[in-house]
Amino acid sequence: MKKISISMAKGGVGKTSTAVNLSAALAKSGKRVLLVDCDPQQGNATLFLGHNPNGLKITIANVINALLDLGAPNFINEATIRQAENFDLLPANPKLEAIQNRLIAEKSSASIFSGETGIQPHEVLKAILGEVEEKYDYAVLDCPPSISMLSINALVAADSVLLPVEAHYECYEALVQTMDVINRIKMNWNPDLQIEGILLTKYQSRTRLCREVSDYTRNNFGTKVKVFEYAVPSSIRMAELSSVGVSIFEHSPDSEAALAYGKLAEGVMWNV
Ligand SMILES: Nc1ncnc2c1ncn2[C@@H]1O[C@H](COP(=O)(O)OP(=O)(O)OP(=O)(O)O)[C@@H](O)[C@H]1O
Ligand SMILES: [Mg+2]
Repeated sequence: MKKISISMAKGGVGKTSTAVNLSAALAKSGKRVLLVDCDPQQGNATLFLGHNPNGLKITIANVINALLDLGAPNFINEATIRQAENFDLLPANPKLEAIQNRLIAEKSSASIFSGETGIQPHEVLKAILGEVEEKYDYAVLDCPPSISMLSINALVAADSVLLPVEAHYECYEALVQTMDVINRIKMNWNPDLQIEGILLTKYQSRTRLCREVSDYTRNNFGTKVKVFEYAVPSSIRMAELSSVGVSIFEHSPDSEAALAYGKLAEGVMWNV
């Protein structure tokens, strides 16, 4: 199972939209996909896929709690929701925020981890995904925008990280900051972590700014990191996705956004 973290230290750049539509595209290609919601906030992948997060009784929060209390990630099957053929969701809701606080407390007090379970607070997600290694071909991790215990867990668990960048210069600060975090994670906890690539999102091909930003990205980062050829256009159909509860392939299959996410999945599967 390849684990791909969708990360960027900036809000609203299209992380969740990318996590949902990449997962859907991989599943449509016959790959078995688990989309893991790592974000306790409103507007997470759970909401995008049509669920009321607050109405869910069993979520990733219960799985993490079980791991911390019992040393085994019980409840994964109970929490997982079948979304479509080949496509499962491990959902999250605001209770995950409390779990994050628990992880931070455990980290600072170094209490039960070294003794009972042996699992470090930054390795919780890695341990959970280890349990479903044989069941899926891909795990796609939808991260929160902050550099937090949850986003760090995702980078520690991941094989690669995909960086959505909205075509604005201010996103570069976030990109540089995120790259810095990735390097620190590589040095300390996950030396094999790869960068899957940069995906330009919310792209308006008619504006000069967008074209400049695209050129800037390819010139400044393209030598070190893959910049996916197809940018995701800014579109009403994409903006509607958070309220319709399906992927772009159901909502607007002939759109340029569907094409871009299809090409992204091909790039991920075949490394092109
Ligand atoms: N290509 C697009 N065109 C138009 N709107 C988009 C596009 N991609 C995402 N959006 C909209 O922009 C908003 C932010 O997108 P999304 O939630 O995917 O970003 P995010 O990085 O996950 O945000 P957060 O950091 O809050 O988790 C949402 O309302 C979404 O519907
Ligand atoms: Mg999000």
